[in-house]
Amino acid sequence: MIITMMLSILLRAPLFCILGLVMAIQTAPEMSWIIAVGIAAVMLSVAIIISIVAPKFKLFQKLVDKITLITRENLTGLKVIRAFNNESIEKKKFTHTNHELTRLLIFVDRILELQNPLINIIFNGTTLLCSWIGISLLSQDFSYLGNMTAFAEYVTFIMMSFLMLSLFFIMMPRANVSAGRINEVLKTGAKIHFVKETRGVPEKRASVEFRKVDFCYPDAAEKVLDDISFKAEAGKTTAFIGSTGSGKSTLINLVPRFYEATSGEILIDGLSIHEYSREDLIKRIGLVPQKGILFAGTVKSNIKFGAPNATDKQVEEAAEIAQATHFIEKMPKGFNSHIAQGGTNVSGGQKQRLSIARAICKKPDIFVFDDAFSALDMKTDAKLRAALKPITKDAVVLIVAQRVSTIKDADQIVVLDKGKMVGKGTHQELLEKCKVYQSIVKSQLSDAEFRKEMSGTAR
Ligand SMILES: Nc1ncnc2c1ncn2[C@@H]1O[C@H](COP(=O)(O)OP(=O)(O)OP(=O)(O)O)[C@@H](O)[C@H]1O
Ligand SMILES: [Mg+2]
Repeated sequence: MIITMMLSILLRAPLFCILGLVMAIQTAPEMSWIIAVGIAAVMLSVAIIISIVAPKFKLFQKLVDKITLITRENLTGLKVIRAFNNESIEKKKFTHTNHELTRLLIFVDRILELQNPLINIIFNGTTLLCSWIGISLLSQDFSYLGNMTAFAEYVTFIMMSFLMLSLFFIMMPRANVSAGRINEVLKTGAKIHFVKETRGVPEKRASVEFRKVDFCYPDAAEKVLDDISFKAEAGKTTAFIGSTGSGKSTLINLVPRFYEATSGEILIDGLSIHEYSREDLIKRIGLVPQKGILFAGTVKSNIKFGAPNATDKQVEEAAEIAQATHFIEKMPKGFNSHIAQGGTNVSGGQKQRLSIARAICKKPDIFVFDDAFSALDMKTDAKLRAALKPITKDAVVLIVAQRVSTIKDADQIVVLDKGKMVGKGTHQELLEKCKVYQSIVKSQLSDAEFRKEMSGTAR
């Protein structure tokens, strides 16, 4: 808006103003002081208005922010608000901010509305002044009438240009606040930089290796991951287990470079992740995030999300492995059934299965399942893992899980505790020597089952 105004006003107004001034002074030099008085009056009134209104604009933008935030939170958290009977509190919060905004807007509008009558008074005042002074000159020379009328016109002309300019200056503070906020977003650059083309040749066999990796979230004081080293190889499953908040998701998120390790090195197929172009890196990874996320479209479009060229057969196969066929076929249009925005029309477990199918359909070299089996019942979980076996025989599989049964058969289990790696090995090895793992297993089994597990290690 300000740029359009700038183009039309800033180019035209000064030109009009200068022309008007030259003509007015040529026509009636005796009265030119009236122009100075008029301009001064206009400038003064505009300056007063700006000084009152400008600081309010910043506040206005803040309040608009606040009200949008409250509205969004209320809409997304609707069910929780209802379940905890907090409607009245939320309503009060909204009403309070809304009133604040209303009051501010009314105040600002009143001040801005003052501008019109004020300018009218000044305009008419100068015309009156012109006539007043002109008449006294007219009594000496009647032919002055023409000059006087022309002069009055020129003065209006000049003041109009000034008025336009002042409108521009009233808009300026608001534009300034908005531009500042837009720039805040635009200036935020990507923190993680990828090279344009992959440097070096990755090994043929897929692998993921962490070498002494530390990680600390920006602005956080403590390390979330501390000295993590392991190697996950093709055809093998590497599992991660640990209590909530122990850093499992964080560790997994370092692989596709969602975050950058603070120190240490991560290698994929023997090549540091820093050497990969974004496309080459992402192409290798099939990620199933902890929270299943779907997009508006159809079941098929969601499964094909990472592999747009997949055939219908491949989509169906992926769904079959992810144990999703059963419920997809029950949907009214099968694979062409509609998925609502955010996947709100499928259950949590169904969402997770479709997310798994999406990763499988991509045929990646590295599968990353972040707690992806948690919403599945034990039977489906086992079936899914069995179905995954043949297609992951040449791929690296990284599985985060809470259930010991999910990862028991993994080739390598990494046990995390408060960001530290406290154990690494197979289920049996860890049962023998890792206290944290023992306690996790114990918490998930009955005493009798646990004794049975432990007796296995003794043998
Ligand atoms: N975006 C973030 N910014 C700052 N700290 C974070 C962020 N995400 C996670 N954390 C912190 O990092 C720690 C590890 O979180 P992470 O999500 O990796 O845990 P997790 O092992 O995956 O837990 P869960 O089993 O509950 O999924 C937590 O203590 C958490 O508070
Ligand atoms: Mg997690």
